[in-house]
Amino acid sequence: MTTERTLSIIKPDAVKKNVLGQILKRFEDAGLRVVALKKVYLNEQTAGEFYAEHKERPFFGELVGFMTSGPCYPLVLEGAGAILKNRELMGATNPTKAEPGTIRHDFALPCTDLSANAVHGSDSPESAKREIGFFFSAAELA
Ligand code: RTP
Ligand code: MG
Repeated sequence: MTTERTLSIIKPDAVKKNVLGQILKRFEDAGLRVVALKKVYLNEQTAGEFYAEHKERPFFGELVGFMTSGPCYPLVLEGAGAILKNRELMGATNPTKAEPGTIRHDFALPCTDLSANAVHGSDSPESAKREIGFFFSAAELA
């Protein structure tokens, strides 16, 4: 399988729950390597730009509001088939539908707000490239 890089974000709800380390361990235990990591305070402009593909969706305002509610931790994961592997580790978008053992099931329940689902993960090679470049410079990725 090809070695890939993908972008994950540990979202504000998971940061508030103090499970940053536990989530990072899930990635490491699955054979993925954290090659870059930083703390970021998104604002309306940067969160809106990051989620531009969802601009017309009814939940866009709620999502931007949530992502600006506290710090988050974007990180770059590297490994064989990293994009799909990360999506599997995350579980379904709606944590109530995520399988036990996935990050969203184990760290985002109980869930009243679908924005607050612990993690983001790139869904394709194209989005991984854009999203990694959104948060990290070439020097930070070396
Ligand atoms: P993500 O992009 O965050 O990795 O999650 P995803 O692919 O599973 O979900 P996506 O459809 O791309 O939606 C992006 C984020 O928007 C929030 N969302 N809220 N209220 C709603 O109906 C709703 N639907 C999606 C979630 O936080 C989701 O992760
Ligand atoms: Mg998505």
